[in-house]
Amino acid sequence: MDQVSFEQLIRDDRAARESKRWRGTLLEYLELVRQDPSLTKLAHGRLYDMILRHGVADILQSDDPRVKRLYKDESLRVYDFFRDEFFGIEKTISQIVRYFHSAALKGEESRQVLYLMGPVGSGKSSLVEKLQRGLEALEPIYVIEGCPMFEEPLHLLPRHLRKEFEKMLGVNIEGDLCPVCRYRLKSEFNTKYEEFPIVTRTFSKRNRAGIGVVPPVDPNNQDTSVLIGSEDISKLDLYSEGDPRVLDLNGALNVGNRGVCEFIEVFKNETEYLHAMITATQEKVIPAPGRHGMVYVDTCIVAHSNEAEWQKFKADHTNEAILDRIVVVKVPYNLRLSEEVKIYEKIIRHSDFHAHVAPHTLEVASMFAILSRLEPSAKCDLMTKLKLYNGAEVVEKGKTKKLDVHELRDDTKREGMSGISTRFVMKALDNALSDNIEGNCINPINVREALISMVKETELPDDTRKLYLEFLQDVLHKEYLELLEKEITKAFVYSYQEQAESLFQNYLDHAEAFVNRTKVKDRNTREELQPDEGFLKSIEEQIAIIGSAADGFRQEVIAYLWASSRRGERVSYRSYEPLKEAIEKRLMTSVRDISRIITKARTRDEEQTDKYDAMVENLLSGGYCRSCVDVVLKYAANNLWKD
Ligand SMILES: Nc1ncnc2c1ncn2[C@@H]1O[C@H](COP(=O)(O)OP(=O)(O)OP(=O)(O)O)[C@@H](O)[C@H]1O
Ligand SMILES: [Mg+2]
Repeated sequence: MDQVSFEQLIRDDRAARESKRWRGTLLEYLELVRQDPSLTKLAHGRLYDMILRHGVADILQSDDPRVKRLYKDESLRVYDFFRDEFFGIEKTISQIVRYFHSAALKGEESRQVLYLMGPVGSGKSSLVEKLQRGLEALEPIYVIEGCPMFEEPLHLLPRHLRKEFEKMLGVNIEGDLCPVCRYRLKSEFNTKYEEFPIVTRTFSKRNRAGIGVVPPVDPNNQDTSVLIGSEDISKLDLYSEGDPRVLDLNGALNVGNRGVCEFIEVFKNETEYLHAMITATQEKVIPAPGRHGMVYVDTCIVAHSNEAEWQKFKADHTNEAILDRIVVVKVPYNLRLSEEVKIYEKIIRHSDFHAHVAPHTLEVASMFAILSRLEPSAKCDLMTKLKLYNGAEVVEKGKTKKLDVHELRDDTKREGMSGISTRFVMKALDNALSDNIEGNCINPINVREALISMVKETELPDDTRKLYLEFLQDVLHKEYLELLEKEITKAFVYSYQEQAESLFQNYLDHAEAFVNRTKVKDRNTREELQPDEGFLKSIEEQIAIIGSAADGFRQEVIAYLWASSRRGERVSYRSYEPLKEAIEKRLMTSVRDISRIITKARTRDEEQTDKYDAMVENLLSGGYCRSCVDVVLKYAANNLWKD
């Protein structure tokens, strides 16, 4: 049974591949082009169409109010091609796509190198790889059979006829035949170009078809054959000088023809290399090895490196000519908490990491990564900034004026260009797991510990290390305890949601009456009452809004919710972030004593045991496992509710 299905699978696959394969002559290919001129797209145009074809939307079309808040004055496009794999770097991606767009229109960009610059682990290689995988998934392209560079078949058309063909086909014909095909045309086909065989070919990185890669080259072996191929020494005796049969056109720029050519850590290479790279984009030709003239290439050159290399390169004035031919796109680290979490979820999904991940684990690790990347601001502390960057609405303690995320961003210089990398965090997650094999679970507590020991062990400037340890041991410790208390409160309070909603409704009724100097109608008795200021204050004081600040806050709340309901949004206790926080804290206070007593108790009476068990059940159904429930509750008992 199994064997049959294996065989079937293989047969079907082969048949499917065969059916896609095409073989014909140039004459037949010309007919195909007449029907579909887009077959002759150049490299940049093909890449641009590939990206666009998956779909594009404006970021403001998102349903997420946080996103709407963050991007309210910007028009930023989001490309589905990148969407499932890249998070929080929409701006970078839109700059990359803009490059492809102008290049596809044969603007200046089509003759420039796309250069991605950013800190380690910011996703540069992954972005290039995504483009390469995209090409591999495309339908095959038509190439001259046997051409080492998978040439566009129209190159076979002689110069003097091209104008006419261009008119008939509605395409632009660019480029000349490579020496290898030129030789074959003469010797095998007696210059009858219309009979030259044409085949289809899929892009493949492994087979070096349409995708070339140039790793940083060994400085002792600076030989341009890596880029442009070489002459096969063993054949030099067989053929006379200048015979193209000795050519091995297998350099990265050759095989990247029609697709992409990637330069890894580009500025580690000698200038000689860079010049070849620049000529390839600027002039769209590269030298053939030996004495074989120049070869036309159509490839999109994508280079990347980190900022230090770039700065060093830029500082050298002799490099000006090269600099002028580079489109720089910065790839900074993501700075949005929700998106950072998605990065680790993605990496974990694609790895062999199969442990349980307790709630808030990736969140806490991500907070650390982002804190390390933020520039300090005089307007607020870093944790507040982190929340604002995540799209939250934050009112500073005791004030009513909301902080503006755009103002904060404008004050920064190179935010996101340094700090902790995604790889560092992934290592910490791995370490936390290897320290907890028996639990097979990572949680905020063991991950924070792992991060602390990694920071202590890593080579870092002293003040940086100190700062990172402060984030971990102080800022995140407090932040996590707050999260944890909220979580335990929720698990303790029967119907938390309803209680929060009812506090919210009450608050609104009374705040509105207070602001409008009217009375509150009791929902049950319909009795008219004075607004209960004591109640309002009991909520507001949770977020340190006291005294005269309260008036402003109440007006703000009413105006905000009024505006959202006019926009047709459903208003709930979660709608206005500062009020949500106040309500949750109020709920926490109301059960704090009982939470503390029951969680900390060494022995519990029957009623307490029931409550405790119900709480544990709630946590389990909220995503905890047996092992991490124990850990976090012990942690809460020791760290929360200090006696
Ligand atoms: N914004 C992001 N969205 C999604 N994944 C990301 C993001 N940033 C980094 N990653 C992930 O982090 C890992 C490291 O990224 P990658 O290797 O592409 O970095 P790099 O910039 O090439 O680093 P280096 O300079 O060290 O070569 C990859 O798994 C990548 O997918
Ligand atoms: Mg890389």
